[in-house]
Amino acid sequence: MNANDLKRQAALAALAYVEEDTILGVGTGSTTNCFIDLLAEKGIRLKACVSSSKATEQRLRDHGYEVIDLNQAGTIPLYVDGADETDAKRQLIKGGGAALTREKICAAAAQQFVCIVDQSKLVPQLGKFPLPVEVIPMARSLVARELVKLGGDPVYREGVTTDNGNVILDVWHLDITDAKALEQKINNLPGVVTNGLFALRPADRVLIARPDRIDTL
Ligand code: 5RP
Repeated sequence: MNANDLKRQAALAALAYVEEDTILGVGTGSTTNCFIDLLAEKGIRLKACVSSSKATEQRLRDHGYEVIDLNQAGTIPLYVDGADETDAKRQLIKGGGAALTREKICAAAAQQFVCIVDQSKLVPQLGKFPLPVEVIPMARSLVARELVKLGGDPVYREGVTTDNGNVILDVWHLDITDAKALEQKINNLPGVVTNGLFALRPADRVLIARPDRIDTL
């Protein structure tokens, strides 16, 4: 089984959480794309979707799903999304696809957040994957200097503008022993829109695809 097969298996497992004719929050990335395609393949009817990115919105619409604004939807019963890393406490690093801010908003609005990953994403401690931080463009250097003071090595993700018109700094080598404290600290830096730590609002379930089974955290 290759990585794509595992992503599809994780996505398939998430279908069990979807109730028809409800509003579904949908994340961003290749694993979530498998999930979107499976929703359509299985003919699952939804009242509407709330999307975490323009790319996901397009894919959902291409499959015939209605996409509504979160302001119209209110609380979302279920949000399904992938991650770049998860630890055993269901704390995540997200934002590899630069959609972290809208993803965090969807997770905050969701009654249940189900995260779908292949086995390579489970780590003993978060931080091998560089932490994405979405930054207002004029604050890029200021925020980068502050991130260095926190022990990180920020790298500007060249050529990427988020759906919100901002830039991304990918921060290497952070010590993420206390993910909640670090999430708060980075979010408090002026110019930061949000960072890719999902520890204050972790996933409620993480479905991990392995070649022979799905493990649930
Ligand atoms: C996008 C994300 C994605 O969920 C994360 O990057 C995982 O992507 P993939 O499923 O392609 O491995 O956070 O901002």
